Amino acid sequence: MHLLTLEGMKAEEITVLLDSAQSFLEVLDRPIPKVPALRGKTVAMMFFEPSTRTRLSFDRAAKALSADTLSFSPSGSSISKGESLKDTAKTVLAMGPDLMVVRHKATGAPWRVADWTGIPVVNAGDGAHQHPTQGLLDALAIRQRFGALDGLHIGILGDIRHSRVARSDIDVFTALGAKVTLIAPRTLLPPTLDSWTVETAPDLDGLLEDLDVLYTLRIQQERGAESGFPSVAEYVKRFGVTSDRANRLKPEAVVLHPGPMNRGVEIAASVADGPRSLVTTQVRNGVAVRMAVLFSLLGGEQ
Ligand code: NCD
Repeated sequence: MHLLTLEGMKAEEITVLLDSAQSFLEVLDRPIPKVPALRGKTVAMMFFEPSTRTRLSFDRAAKALSADTLSFSPSGSSISKGESLKDTAKTVLAMGPDLMVVRHKATGAPWRVADWTGIPVVNAGDGAHQHPTQGLLDALAIRQRFGALDGLHIGILGDIRHSRVARSDIDVFTALGAKVTLIAPRTLLPPTLDSWTVETAPDLDGLLEDLDVLYTLRIQQERGAESGFPSVAEYVKRFGVTSDRANRLKPEAVVLHPGPMNRGVEIAASVADGPRSLVTTQVRNGVAVRMAVLFSLLGGEQ
């Protein structure tokens, strides 16, 4: 069993994971935030792309379940000497991990690692494709605030084209019954919207009063996003979540961002740190969701 994508995941399966994460949040609140559930198991963290939140929270999650962890960073490892993904995966496998968490710039890399190693793999972000644990932690943050996603109107704003977070969020939000509108210039949408049951809007201003949730994405310069609009100032003018725009949202509406944030570009600092922001909740949920995922993949036999 793996967790590679949220595409096609049913509401019931998602709900089981979110319920489990909710109960692990209670563990994290204890004076000694640790349970023996995965004692004796080893989780290998294979991060071939930079990461702060995702990597630290998988690490925290594994340790809170009493698992051991193995990890490396590409710059300090033989990746910098040109070792291939396959050789790296086989090398780490020989050290006996029970599960691998994989982040890689290439779409599909975690599927390859799963084939090569035969052990459970969790996708921690592959290229612009999927980031399933992010989708789950986002859904959990919204569920905690509104009780359910069913019937909510969620706007996903910005660099959708380059975003694995957007793809996983679209899958999980629509599976749980939310209406999703993608808000972006045409140049920051993927060439086709395929099978997504979403609407699109070319502007943010016309939608503000209607949204329950505004999910703001990072402009991914490293994947070429800036060629999608004339200038940063122009982007902020049309799509930036400024405090004026945040003030026009419904009173109970919330704003999310997966981090890392470009403050002053896609989101103003006053909104990121303001009362509507769920950014810190998202990070905290990340640990609990990753505990739920690791436990569901490794905890079965105990
Ligand atoms: C995201 C990622 O790396 O996919 N960050 C994260 O995991 N929280 C989003 C991003 O980099 O913009």
